[in-house]
Amino acid sequence: MKEMTKRDQPALAIDSIEQRVESLLATMTQAEKIGQMRQVDATGERLSPALVEAVRTGQIGSVINQTDPALVNELQRIAMEESRMAIPLLIARDVIHGFKTIFPIPLGQAATWNPAIIEEAARTAANEAARSGVNWTFAPMVDISRDPRWGRIAESFGEDPYLSGVLGAAMTRGFQEANPPGAGAIAACAKHFAGYGASESGRDYSATNIPENELRNVYLPPFKAVLEAGAHSIMASFSDIDGVPASANAFLFRTVLREEWRFDGIAVSDWNSVSQLSVHGITADDREAAEQAALAGIDIEMAGNVYECHLDDLAEDGIVNQSMIDEAVANILRTKFRLGLFENPYTDPEAFPAFGDKHAKELAVQAARESIVLLKNDNGALPLNTRAINSVAIIGPLADAPYEQLGTWVFDGDVTLSVTPLTAIRELAGAHFEVRYAPAMESTRSRSTELFEDAVTAAQESDVVVVFLGEESILSGEAHSRANIDLPGNQADLIKTIRSVGKPVIAVIMAGRPLTLGNILDDVDALLFAWHPGTMAGPAISDLLFGRATPSGRLPVTFPKVVGQIPIYYNHKNTGRPPTQEDVVLIDDIPIGTAQTSLGMTAFHMDAGFEPQFPFGFGLSYTDFQYTDLIMSAKRIRPSETLRISAMISNVGDVDGAEVVQLYIRDLVGSVTRPVRELKAFSKIHVPAGLSKRVTFDLSASDLGFWRRDGSFGPEPGEFHLWVGPDAKSGLFATFSLAD
Ligand code: NOJ
Repeated sequence: MKEMTKRDQPALAIDSIEQRVESLLATMTQAEKIGQMRQVDATGERLSPALVEAVRTGQIGSVINQTDPALVNELQRIAMEESRMAIPLLIARDVIHGFKTIFPIPLGQAATWNPAIIEEAARTAANEAARSGVNWTFAPMVDISRDPRWGRIAESFGEDPYLSGVLGAAMTRGFQEANPPGAGAIAACAKHFAGYGASESGRDYSATNIPENELRNVYLPPFKAVLEAGAHSIMASFSDIDGVPASANAFLFRTVLREEWRFDGIAVSDWNSVSQLSVHGITADDREAAEQAALAGIDIEMAGNVYECHLDDLAEDGIVNQSMIDEAVANILRTKFRLGLFENPYTDPEAFPAFGDKHAKELAVQAARESIVLLKNDNGALPLNTRAINSVAIIGPLADAPYEQLGTWVFDGDVTLSVTPLTAIRELAGAHFEVRYAPAMESTRSRSTELFEDAVTAAQESDVVVVFLGEESILSGEAHSRANIDLPGNQADLIKTIRSVGKPVIAVIMAGRPLTLGNILDDVDALLFAWHPGTMAGPAISDLLFGRATPSGRLPVTFPKVVGQIPIYYNHKNTGRPPTQEDVVLIDDIPIGTAQTSLGMTAFHMDAGFEPQFPFGFGLSYTDFQYTDLIMSAKRIRPSETLRISAMISNVGDVDGAEVVQLYIRDLVGSVTRPVRELKAFSKIHVPAGLSKRVTFDLSASDLGFWRRDGSFGPEPGEFHLWVGPDAKSGLFATFSLAD
């Protein structure tokens, strides 16, 4: 396996960092070492005397949740000037999709399929966070998420290992590589290692059961990609994986992370997850929990006191080797050196751009615009033509909800910066057309129809209706899983009521997850799925509604028709009985008394078939793209060779647009079964109306590699299918083979 490269190397040479780490370790007391392994919660408007004393006496190496720059600087001053070892603190905060300026939720960012914009958004977030003294964020989350019931799918890049890896790496570079160099970089953290997204039935924190082959082929690759991009840290998942909770999982943290991947940054637990080992029932008490976490290789305990209370004794008794403690502390010190904290532990807010400055806002509009996916557009219902309409009814609980449009994990998000769709549309309307607003429901969960009447009146008096539906931000995120992922409350009824007015109906849905949309799709002419778009939701949505921009978002996750199809994902295995449209017999079509047989049966649900509502990679545009002229450099490559593939993409409509060109393969025969399709590359291209562009991809034999039956990694010779297309269900098709 390739050794990880370290990007973002500090000014100091590696030798000198290692020497400085060694020399600190040689002079630190055991208490000071264990102090480095503790992260404490520093929430509050002032610093508690206990916290100050702990920093002064070297009993703490890191704090979480303090973002007042004056207080952070004071803590750093105490650490640097009053503590014996003068070791700066790591100041951690969840900067997940923005700090004050909020970008789309990560799942929305993934829908941009644009690593460059994700990188720049992270860089902007890092700048804003660093202004407050933060030097460590707990992002990107690269948990493969195949279950939209899971609230944390919002924080993920979706279901695909390759896409998650590319986008996670981009986010990592954005956080860690400041522009200009030195200014405002913060450490990234790949989380949650590993398999958290596979929680049973999408219930947060539930057990995960992932066989090693699937773990290695599906769940681990994005972590490796993020660490190869230089991420300074990695966080343990809360969950139990195959019977061993991640915080005690030496296979994950020692075998894979340290031995195979040679990672030498920080492994941090999740919030109090070391103590929770005893709640899981893998340890009997905190002392055993400290032992198991330390033996597994968790360097820092987040927000708990188990290391503080027991590590010293465990080392004294020889249960935890001193070398393990020294190694953990070395990982922490090395990272602090790499971040340049010894040289510059303080923040100078004045040296940074103001929060929510022009650049941040423009970027937030662009990211939101690119994240929104057009899922339906019958008869060119969108874009709306400002010259052809006199009035628009803006209806729904999320049309003017400045906080709700931000999504989950926005501890520091500044709601006063939010521009709502209603505000943006009113601004755009100016004197050109009239805007009538009726919220229709108090919240997305409301069960009352009391306010429907005003909405019906607004619809009757207008030329077109735009309905803003979805989920409030609190309905997704950590511990906010849902069993039913229909639009909550009375929203489907609202759509039906509005439909009956007879005006064109456009739905804009803001949500933290894919939703089951079957009960509203037929009642809308067009549907924009906007995720939670963040601060600049309004301008982004109104640009798309009124054709100032063309939708270019594509789904990073499959949308099921009904919840019972979950997990449903494009890169599934073929099974021995793959279904076809002809096989599907729906429940209502089975005659009473039909005799049972085991012949001619395939893998589908009698009440849902086997197709999703919308496939991975899907998204419409205001223009049409044609794929032609697939060229491959060879029909057969040797393991040392690269296959060059190209296709012509033509914009055959009459507006400019961006297309996400996706390359998929299928390995037909393997020593373990292979997915029916796997994304291997993609490219987002802008094609002006009437023009064509050739898109080229290079596929090396190692790109065809996977974890094989014998436990090794690499490609296997044989036949492959290949598609270049706009989503996981279509595309130009070709075959090639890999020679021995
Ligand atoms: C718990 C979450 O699981 C994790 O993602 C987050 O970074 C920590 N809490 C810190 O807030």
